[in-house]
Amino acid sequence: MTAADRPSVAIPGEALPRPAGVATDGLLELQGVSVHFALHQGFATTLRGAPPRFVRAVDGVDLRIRSGEVVSLVGESGCGKTTTGRALVRLAPISGGRVLLDGKDVTGIGGRELRDYRRRVQIIFQDPYESLNPKQMIGDIIAEPLDIHGVPSGAERAERVTRALESAGLRPARAYLRRFPHELSGGQRQRVAIAAAMVLDPEFVVADEPVSMLDVSVRTGILRIMMELRQSRGVGYLFITHDLSLAWLIADRIAVMYLGRVVETGPAERLVSQPRHPYTQALLSVMPSPDPKRRRRRLILSGETPDASRIPSGCRFHPRCPLAAPYGIEERCRTEDPPAFDVGAGVTSACWLAEPGGPLAGDTPWRGIPVVGDDGTITHGLERGPAPAAPVRAPEPPAVTPPDAANAPAAPAQGPGTPAQETGTPASGPGDPATGAG
Ligand SMILES: Nc1ncnc2c1ncn2[C@@H]1O[C@H](COP(=O)(O)OP(=O)(O)O)[C@@H](O)[C@H]1O
Ligand code: SF4
Ligand SMILES: [Mg+2]
Repeated sequence: MTAADRPSVAIPGEALPRPAGVATDGLLELQGVSVHFALHQGFATTLRGAPPRFVRAVDGVDLRIRSGEVVSLVGESGCGKTTTGRALVRLAPISGGRVLLDGKDVTGIGGRELRDYRRRVQIIFQDPYESLNPKQMIGDIIAEPLDIHGVPSGAERAERVTRALESAGLRPARAYLRRFPHELSGGQRQRVAIAAAMVLDPEFVVADEPVSMLDVSVRTGILRIMMELRQSRGVGYLFITHDLSLAWLIADRIAVMYLGRVVETGPAERLVSQPRHPYTQALLSVMPSPDPKRRRRRLILSGETPDASRIPSGCRFHPRCPLAAPYGIEERCRTEDPPAFDVGAGVTSACWLAEPGGPLAGDTPWRGIPVVGDDGTITHGLERGPAPAAPVRAPEPPAVTPPDAANAPAAPAQGPGTPAQETGTPASGPGDPATGAG
């Protein structure tokens, strides 16, 4: 599968904007980063001298994002995606490991250094209804980061606010400046959040499920704006989503997270067509296939719902893994934590079966990769029937709203300068692939 096989998030048939010409020297890294939260225990439990317990929300994550690159962090609800994103922008308390920007350790910085870091690394939150101050006008919301970073008021500041709003698709900017968040739809608010994140010209942006709270009809417009900013400004994204098909649609690389750890990483096409970790296989098996003749063997995970305060010993996926028993490695999986094995082509897999020579290792032809079906039998490759000519594809992107229509001032009765109208009804995103949770 190549990038050309992927449906575009822009206009069907139009190629996904690639970061051609983007300087690729910026690098943001997490090295073995952990975020552990102390669990509040009752007074009686403390008196009994019980050891403190922790929620290991992020538990040794390695991740690299280059300028202009879209890395998608995918996994079911509660696996630690948001906390990882917050650790990256230094909003979560880091218990271990290091955050590096261009090789410089920024884990312990504070004060002015941290302010400078946040100018370069910004975040867009999931919920545009919560993330904007309801008492501030849009113009002030966008200008606030400029205040914090000492950009004096005047022509330059006004120009930057206008440019940020218009590059987020809110045109003309003057129609929005004196409005309050409650006067805007969900899609417009998320555009405001994008503008506020972009006004300082960051090099990296953490986008935490930026479209999951939005109506399907406005998602494409938001994604398109983000990808245009990647193209025009070389922004690198950590794009967090629970939706593997969306990750495949927009990411260059995907990192699959399970219970605080990244279990598989790789180029998007490669990871989706040749998954090298049983958990990725489970996520993929419930990804919709547009071709009904190519139904995948749906893989329902059994075992307890993962709990970050009780991470299993050994491989953390072992209580739910359908492949450990058929390969007779249950004991090893229960006691030894697999490292991330390099399986070639830029892919890593934290599974003992991906050890050199194993059935999920790099030299296994992909049609030979073992997959357990819902009836418990092992087959090879991902789909029923004869070997497919082409691997799986993501569903078509949501209905496209032409960007101009989405952003043009609507409802002539409201007069000139009225902000654009977008459907703002929050809609739950597609359910979590593996669990149904969103
Ligand atoms: N501030 C916090 N205090 C305690 N536990 C937390 C805190 N933030 C997140 N968690 C827990 O950490 C785990 C990961 O949460 P989160 O990063 O929000 O996951 P995701 O974004 O993948 O849904 C969850 O079990 C969650 O309950
Ligand atoms: S190490 Fe064992 S339990 Fe973990 S994913 Fe691989 S086979 Fe399954
Ligand atoms: Mg989250």
